Amino acid sequence: MDEKSKPLGVFDSGVGGLTALRRLREICPNEDIIYFGDTGRVPYGTKSAQLIRKYALQDARFLESFGVKAILVACGTVSANAMDELKNGSKVHVMGVISPAVEKAVKLTKTNGKVLILGTEATIESRAYERLLCDIRPDIKVLTKACPMFVPLAENGLTSYSHPAVKALVEEYLWEFRDEAPDCVILGCTHYPLLAGAVSEVLPESALIDTGRAAAEEMKEYLISQGLDNCGGGNISVYVCDRV
Ligand code: DGL
Repeated sequence: MDEKSKPLGVFDSGVGGLTALRRLREICPNEDIIYFGDTGRVPYGTKSAQLIRKYALQDARFLESFGVKAILVACGTVSANAMDELKNGSKVHVMGVISPAVEKAVKLTKTNGKVLILGTEATIESRAYERLLCDIRPDIKVLTKACPMFVPLAENGLTSYSHPAVKALVEEYLWEFRDEAPDCVILGCTHYPLLAGAVSEVLPESALIDTGRAAAEEMKEYLISQGLDNCGGGNISVYVCDRV
């Protein structure tokens, strides 16, 4: 098989990464995509960096066994904790969601220079977003908040602000930022785009960054720049796993 026709690999700790898969499909409709969701070991967001790295390397190996031409790490937690290991340990190009989202944030932050990062506990604790943002634009004020209950909300189909549980949790996590009115909010977890409407109810003036979309756009640019973009295909295969 020639390089162009090889599939792209996408992985996440579970099914949340389907939000990124949807964006990748829209932006790269002619690519074959193999998606792996580690449903047997989800969540990653409450685990140690060491364990996240171990799982991430195994997930990437699984995708590489299909002969993928590049890997998109949809998972915010893995992108924040395991990119160096993944890049060093993979035969193909591996792209996470942090750098594409940060690039967008830098472009969007115009009025007050405040960027709010939302993510799992492991993502926020890693400080990966903060470090990259401050490297590129030291003048930006970075605010962060771990929102661990957003994942179970989204997984149970509770995403509308009109639902009392959603309203209560979105306000619990985000009310403190209302006065700050950050220019943009990075939805730094696969599940959070599903709660975008509810987030906007509390922070109506902030632009929301969907990390999956930002990464899909960067993947497209990468494929074109390397002459690896496919012009056929468009098939999607999804793999999940049982408890181990
Ligand atoms: N996929 C994870 C992320 O984007 C959220 C779920 C988990 O904790 O594993 O950070």
